[in-house]
Amino acid sequence: MWKSAILFAPVALAAIDISFDSTESIKDGAGVIARDLMSIYVGDQYGEIPGILPGGLDCNPQNEGSYCWWQAGAMFGQMINYWQYTGDDQYNDQIIQALLHQRGEKNDFNPQNHSRSMGVDDQAFWAFAALDAVEANFPESPNEEDPSWLSLAQGLFNFQTSLWETRTCGGGFRWQVVSVNNGYNLKNMISNGGNFQVAARLAYITGNETYADWATMVWDWMAESKMFERDNEGLLYIWDNLDADNDCQEPVKFIWSYNYGVLLAGAAYMYNFTDGSPEWKSRIDEILSSSLDLYFATPPSDGNVMIEYLCEENLICNQDQKSFKAYLTRWMTVTAMLVPETWDIIMPKLRTSAQAAARQCNGGDTGTWCSMQWWTNIPTGKTGAGEQMAALSAVGSTLAQPAMAPLTLNTGATSESRPNPEPERVRVLAPITTADRAGAAILTILACVGFVGAMVWIVLE
Ligand SMILES: *[C@@H]1O[C@H](CO)[C@@H](O)[C@H](O)[C@H]1NC(C)=O
Ligand SMILES: *[C@@H]1O[C@H](CO)[C@@H](O)[C@H](O)[C@H]1NC(C)=O
Ligand SMILES: *[C@@H]1O[C@H](CO)[C@@H](O)[C@H](O)[C@H]1NC(C)=O
Repeated sequence: MWKSAILFAPVALAAIDISFDSTESIKDGAGVIARDLMSIYVGDQYGEIPGILPGGLDCNPQNEGSYCWWQAGAMFGQMINYWQYTGDDQYNDQIIQALLHQRGEKNDFNPQNHSRSMGVDDQAFWAFAALDAVEANFPESPNEEDPSWLSLAQGLFNFQTSLWETRTCGGGFRWQVVSVNNGYNLKNMISNGGNFQVAARLAYITGNETYADWATMVWDWMAESKMFERDNEGLLYIWDNLDADNDCQEPVKFIWSYNYGVLLAGAAYMYNFTDGSPEWKSRIDEILSSSLDLYFATPPSDGNVMIEYLCEENLICNQDQKSFKAYLTRWMTVTAMLVPETWDIIMPKLRTSAQAAARQCNGGDTGTWCSMQWWTNIPTGKTGAGEQMAALSAVGSTLAQPAMAPLTLNTGATSESRPNPEPERVRVLAPITTADRAGAAILTILACVGFVGAMVWIVLE
């Protein structure tokens, strides 16, 4: 009896066991989380589409294992952070291929394959990945004809400025890019906040005031909209969306951690860009203290472990929502670097969250998949990309140091800036060979035939 009880006791699988006092141990643990995460990605395999996750061509976030286009963009950004924090470059080729394949026909992260549900927010997450690459000097494509990471984010910025809409609600971005899409009537926080953060980062990276002015304009619209609301204690609620058909009068009262994170980090870039403007600092303080209240101090968490307020306790988060803590974590980390006064407030909370998250990484087929209720000791049994990304962000944040602060073109970022779209890209030609000359001769002959043909056609008209 006794013996068989031992035989049938649950086998402890290889749960990750990180010693948070050791950088090497944290890197190893992060490596295991990243490995499980990237095992979901098959886009680089034969016959698959680089850059998308399973379900990504026609996703339904209600279904387990179905990941929308934007979440893949977020994941590659996260993997750039992973490379920066650990030095592990084994995924770099996959990341480069993915970002380039999904960059869109016009180098603006607006690929036509996804236009049926293309959101301003979706594109912003891909631009965030490109900006993560710029800010960490992630390797550029080895093919010199490919656009630089910075130019892709600038391409997205130039595309999105054309979508700003003042006909309703005094301004703002609609959620959807295409007017026939479901949700075109909404003006939502993550789209506006996403564009705001992209503009703030471009200002920070390039020093170009045009981006800063744009970011300030988007901020002002958001802050004056009904998506910002304060309670009697000064807690800031950042609601999810407004209906433009109703002139944005009634906010939809959901709060999500990534909406706080996207504004927090955007404000941190603006604070740093303006050399410490008190106005941006007070905005940062308010969002940060409200985030700590809502996403750490909401029971059943104890104030030190991050929780997705609306859906986590009852395990009703969809595939998108499961990943939100990844972004709040990453954006708190970057805020701590850009606004050094916040370091001691932010980093202890992320560290306790990381420790709690790592204890939840003991599920699935490898025995190391993470689940999302970090505040319990009981794994949920549910695993996936969102849970992995959130845990990887948390564990990764404990490797962050002030010296990893985002680079600018003045402090060593090397990605090529291309603020204005170019009608015709000037190519750097390789030295001309005999074969090329023969080819050129044939082309010239064909062009002449075409020219003569056109002349004949004109005469016949
Ligand atoms: C668009 O979809 C097709 C097939 O559905 C695929 O072959 C192609 O690689 C996709 N393009 C992008 C940019 O994802
Ligand atoms: C901006 O960020 C850098 C890098 O972390 C930091 O050294 C600097 O103090 C920040 N500037 C301000 C005004 O806080
Ligand atoms: C600054 O950005 C704007 C907007 O993209 C662009 O038109 C302008 O050329 C940029 N200026 C410089 C000096 O790069």
